[in-house]
Amino acid sequence: MDPAKRASVGVRSDNRLEEQVKDWLRYGEDLGLGPYYRDRAPLHAIAEATAAPLESQSAAASSNMPVAAAMAAAAPGRAPGAPINVAPSSASQKAASAAAMKTPPAAPASTILPAATSPSLFEAMERIAGDTLQRIREDIGDCTRCKLHKARTNIVFGVGNPKAELVFVGEGPGRDEDLKGEPFVGRAGKLLTQMIEAMGLRREDVYIANVVKCRPPENRLPEKDEISTCSPFLMRQLDVIKPKVICCLGSCSSQTLLQTTQGISKFRGEWFDFRGAKLIATYHPAYLLRNPPAKSEVWKDLQKVMAYLGLQPKKR
Ligand code: URA
Repeated sequence: MDPAKRASVGVRSDNRLEEQVKDWLRYGEDLGLGPYYRDRAPLHAIAEATAAPLESQSAAASSNMPVAAAMAAAAPGRAPGAPINVAPSSASQKAASAAAMKTPPAAPASTILPAATSPSLFEAMERIAGDTLQRIREDIGDCTRCKLHKARTNIVFGVGNPKAELVFVGEGPGRDEDLKGEPFVGRAGKLLTQMIEAMGLRREDVYIANVVKCRPPENRLPEKDEISTCSPFLMRQLDVIKPKVICCLGSCSSQTLLQTTQGISKFRGEWFDFRGAKLIATYHPAYLLRNPPAKSEVWKDLQKVMAYLGLQPKKR
């Protein structure tokens, strides 16, 4: 091929790759995953990082299909809309699950999160002697500390077993939660309840809380100032409950507790030490409602939690 033609083909494929990456990012935004991609590498760096997997995608990926859809199509054994896989379905899965029961959680790879240059907000935060959930609720009071108070109906403090071994942490209340004053009672909440039951637990066995206690308008993501104002109350709740495992649902809670801007897909399913507890992040149930194939990934993460806590999956 003459060099001029080769150069023009090269430019076209660069453009196509850039378009694919932009599609991918837009798809992430549509799914509410915006912050995963914000404040990070410039587009050309993302394009470089993703070039190999994109190019190694099958024919589906090389068609005009959006990249994320092509990736889902390429994922083996995942049918869009498939129900959550609540029990190990094959002998090998059962064996893997049994092996996981015996294997202590692997230490997180040290390269996953950027090294902190100073003690994080939360590491530096001292435990309050004699603190209780009731006192935390009283301290929150009829809160007006941030702008979220203006449109809220109810403060959504948290619900569940105050001595739970497992705490789920979401992002912030939605409309149903705001009206009821209880976390995870809407569609995503029903899915969370199914996930908890699939783990052989009842909703009342665990504790469920959010990073922010008031509903962000139009279900937008909580903003930095809202998170920094409200999350110390979550920290106090975690300190009082002293769970063995904290399961962060989605990017907001995991990025807040781990103090990182990394995308959740980089560290989901990994174990972290967090103020005496083990912390694991998985995808948010609201994301699963839009992207059912990701349920199998979440189930893998929940199986790790079950192995650590010695739980057996619910019998069908
Ligand atoms: N999403 C959350 O993150 N929390 C809730 O309580 C409900 C939906």
